[in-house]
Amino acid sequence: MTDEKQRLQLLLNASEEEFQRLILDIHDQPVQKLFAALAQLTLLHSRLSDLLPEQPEILATLQRASELLESALSDIRNLLSTFRTPEFTHRKLDQIIEDLIVQFETLTGLKVNLVQKEVPEGIALPVKIAVYRIVQEALSNVYRHAGVNEAWVSLYQQGNHLRLEIRDQGHGFAPATEEEGHPQQGKHLGLEGMRERVALLNGRLWIESQTGKGTSVSVEIPLHE
Ligand SMILES: Nc1ncnc2c1ncn2[C@@H]1O[C@H](COP(=O)(O)OP(=O)(O)O)[C@@H](O)[C@H]1O
Ligand SMILES: [Mg+2]
Repeated sequence: MTDEKQRLQLLLNASEEEFQRLILDIHDQPVQKLFAALAQLTLLHSRLSDLLPEQPEILATLQRASELLESALSDIRNLLSTFRTPEFTHRKLDQIIEDLIVQFETLTGLKVNLVQKEVPEGIALPVKIAVYRIVQEALSNVYRHAGVNEAWVSLYQQGNHLRLEIRDQGHGFAPATEEEGHPQQGKHLGLEGMRERVALLNGRLWIESQTGKGTSVSVEIPLHE
């Protein structure tokens, strides 16, 4: 397996929460500190070249340290870009979803039957991101839990709503009802994460699943709030 493929596999197996936390943590903490250190070194270099013009080896050492930091930053950027989500702002949602599905099929060998109808242009960014993440998580669940090699995804406009469905004919499971609360909370964050995303957008999500009869995740998100 190539490095790239291994990383993608990792991505697919990580829960949404783990994945988000990882990217944010790397970006917010070590990367910012490395940038700050690089800036300090550059400052030091320019001060010392005034103060110690006779000491080129000190300046050269500082220069090497700066280059190492720059190279580390570029390594991290490359790594993060493997996990980076597609360019949501300028791309249309149907293209984004199509690419995600091709990537998923290549990686897993599963067949995904995709139907997209009249997916409007100019969908709000948070809606695009939510749809992308939900499809990603639901397909990753099919791959990990359903025990089948085929799935169905449909995305279309219905009145003022965007409708999304991810379906499989696999093992199925018994989804927790609202009354039961979320006994799995803390352990299985995928479905919870989907619910939260949809709730934030004033949408609805419902899961139909029966042992032995497959699973469907349906989502309805208002297009104009
Ligand atoms: N498509 C599916 N087919 C069968 N079981 C599923 C499916 N989706 C979810 N499940 C079941 O629901 C549980 C919770 O899913 P999720 O919240 O995504 O957590 P995780 O994938 O990390 O286990 C899974 O562990 C699995 O038992
Ligand atoms: Mg999951």
